[in-house]
Amino acid sequence: MSNRIAVVGTGYVGLTTGTCLAHLGHDVTCIDNDPAKIELLESGGIPILEPGLPELVAEGVAAGRLRFTGDIVEGVQGREFVLLCVPTPQGSDGSADLSYIESAARSIRDHLEPNAIVINKSTVPVGSTRVVANALGREDVHVVSNPEFLREGSAVSDFLNPERVVIGADDQAVAIRVAALHLRLAAPLLVTDPATAELTKYASNAFLALKISYINAIAAVAEAVGADIDDVVTGLGLDSRIGQSFLRPGPGWGGSCLPKDTSALIRIAADAGYDFSLMKDAVKVNRQQFERVVDKVRRVAGEPLEGRTIAVWGLTFKAGTDDLRDSPAIEVARQLVAEGAKVRAYDPEVAAGADVLEGVEVVDDPYACCDGADALVVLTEWPEFSRMDLDRVAAALAQRAVVDTRNVLDRAALARREFTYQGIGRV
Ligand code: UDX
Repeated sequence: MSNRIAVVGTGYVGLTTGTCLAHLGHDVTCIDNDPAKIELLESGGIPILEPGLPELVAEGVAAGRLRFTGDIVEGVQGREFVLLCVPTPQGSDGSADLSYIESAARSIRDHLEPNAIVINKSTVPVGSTRVVANALGREDVHVVSNPEFLREGSAVSDFLNPERVVIGADDQAVAIRVAALHLRLAAPLLVTDPATAELTKYASNAFLALKISYINAIAAVAEAVGADIDDVVTGLGLDSRIGQSFLRPGPGWGGSCLPKDTSALIRIAADAGYDFSLMKDAVKVNRQQFERVVDKVRRVAGEPLEGRTIAVWGLTFKAGTDDLRDSPAIEVARQLVAEGAKVRAYDPEVAAGADVLEGVEVVDDPYACCDGADALVVLTEWPEFSRMDLDRVAAALAQRAVVDTRNVLDRAALARREFTYQGIGRV
């Protein structure tokens, strides 16, 4: 069955969701208030790096099932479903800022079809379905929560092969209409009330953050007692109750979701009278992780860092994306610059000369990046880093020193070349 759908917001979530719904056979209009973005999309360009997305956008446009518009009023007219996929950035007190979502709701309220369903996909505090309903002020329109669980870099595949679809609705018949949109996806369906759906999203992302902070804390212990984190992770993950995923130690977690969602959850809990100290500690462990990385750089490059040149490989918050938002790499670079180091960076997805942070020079060659540097720090797990010519790296650096925060370099090969080495969770 094909439905008429409007998607408000063409960021990672909106563009992926709209495009995938068109792929499933629905008739989709994607709306954005950024004219440059709409122009780019209309001319066949894709504003984000997302595997599989360009092909599916082209397919949807060619089939006449996917179109883009900057006009929100025209975009929602005649639509049975309107998906809100607008940003919910972190406000100054840690809570999610709902102004975009409220303003989107106000813009569409007079133009919705009777019986239309507004589906909130943005990550919003518990109770926000009500906030949207109030902003709409329409008795004849339904509001449903349907959180997204899309990872950047695999968003298309996550949408088309979901591990679950969560629908939060007060009315069963409305929930069934939303469920029908996902009929072609063979996924377990959880139909619940809006507050539960909203909390499920936060609980999921916060748990992932907790898992990573846990393994980074275990990595610190491993270093102190002379254990090897890779083997610990293998042994730990083979317990099916724990699982292998999200146990990779690293420079800390970042990105557009985990930092803001953990802060928002702490805030939601506090507002409801619960002091979520477990989550607060996970956030603290994450901050400490950035500092631990800088400490490792000091150890291998020599102290003080003032006046030293540090080569950085990787700026994005993880491999497979061009997103720099809340990237641990940027946070580490910021601390290095604050200590007076000159930072030269290379990232396959960041253009040379890009203005990422004051004091950081971005170059387009990984070896030139190392030229005359006092240490190399690997901050993102791009696969190409494990294939670099270590002799060229050794020749380029002023001293053979490396901090590998993703444990992607060949430690034995570095040892043979007499590098001073620091990984995460290994000695
Ligand atoms: C996340 C959730 O995974 C997704 O379900 C949600 O809807 C949006 O937020 P994303 O922000 O794309 O997705 O990134 P994710 O893959 O979760 O990684 C987050 C951070 O954790 C990155 O900085 C990554 O490098 C780090 N990470 C992840 C680790 O350090 N170790 C791991 O084992 C996994």
